[in-house]
Amino acid sequence: MKVAVITGAARGIGRITALRLAKDGCAIVASDILTEQVNETAELIRESSGKALALTVDVRDEEQVKEMFEVAISEFGGVDILVNNAGVVWRSHIVETNSEDFDLVIGVNLKGAFLCTKYAAPIMRKRGGGVIVNISSLHAFATLPNLAVYAASKAGLIGLTKAAALDLGDWNIRVVAVCPAAVDTPMLRDKPTEEENIAAVNRWKKASPIGLLLQPEDVANLVAWLVSDEARGLTGVAIVLDAGVSADLQVRKIPVQ
Ligand SMILES: NC(=O)c1ccc[n+]([C@@H]2O[C@H](COP(=O)([O-])OP(=O)(O)OC[C@H]3O[C@@H](n4cnc5c(N)ncnc54)[C@H](O)[C@@H]3O)[C@@H](O)[C@H]2O)c1
Repeated sequence: MKVAVITGAARGIGRITALRLAKDGCAIVASDILTEQVNETAELIRESSGKALALTVDVRDEEQVKEMFEVAISEFGGVDILVNNAGVVWRSHIVETNSEDFDLVIGVNLKGAFLCTKYAAPIMRKRGGGVIVNISSLHAFATLPNLAVYAASKAGLIGLTKAAALDLGDWNIRVVAVCPAAVDTPMLRDKPTEEENIAAVNRWKKASPIGLLLQPEDVANLVAWLVSDEARGLTGVAIVLDAGVSADLQVRKIPVQ
């Protein structure tokens, strides 16, 4: 049985990816800072006869990350798959963004993925290899105003993906980034009013030539394929999953979120 560690698995893309990989037969280590909700994710998997445990882990904390992988070994015998999904968005003008905001976003989105990769890789090596999927974003390539630190963190994650793919290739570990456009999760629906949430949803639908707002399942389906042997030729690349949004050069079609 393959073992998959998924960070940020309390809700949104992380939870749906955990459920999907469990359905595909993996034992799941679901982690998040939201204890109650990540417990729920593991409970949902166990209710469907899957194997899962939940851990409260802040991916910025090296000791907690190290411990997460120790538990993965003691409970499930090792790690084959890592999905670096934990993430935070931060919306502010660059000159109004302070260094604490910067440290938070880079800490979760970039340092967290680095730490998890650092501790997962030697364990994967002992199993003969593995796959690491980093959940980046379309904002790594083209972004919107007021998202400087988020965009920088997601672009950094692509650099990390490429560098890790080189360092870990000899250990038969593939490292791939997935770059989704807006996905219908609590992160997208975080506006002050429901009206603003609906407006954001509609703008993204309009920006897609097929009128699609991505669902967490769309990301989970891609991750499920990327971690399978069918994707053995992919490493060190960033895959754009955007329902066609970036194919359209009609600039400013998506107004500021
Ligand atoms: N929703 C989108 O539009 C979208 C688009 C592209 C990429 N992404 C990326 O997908 C990933 C998942 O986002 P989502 O949309 O499901 O958002 P979400 O906010 O629903 O989920 C993110 C999860 O990460 C967890 N998290 C935050 N800080 C953490 C920390 N320090 N340690 C551990 N966990 C932490 C949160 O508690 C939450 O459960 C993120 O990396 C996000 O940047 C999202």
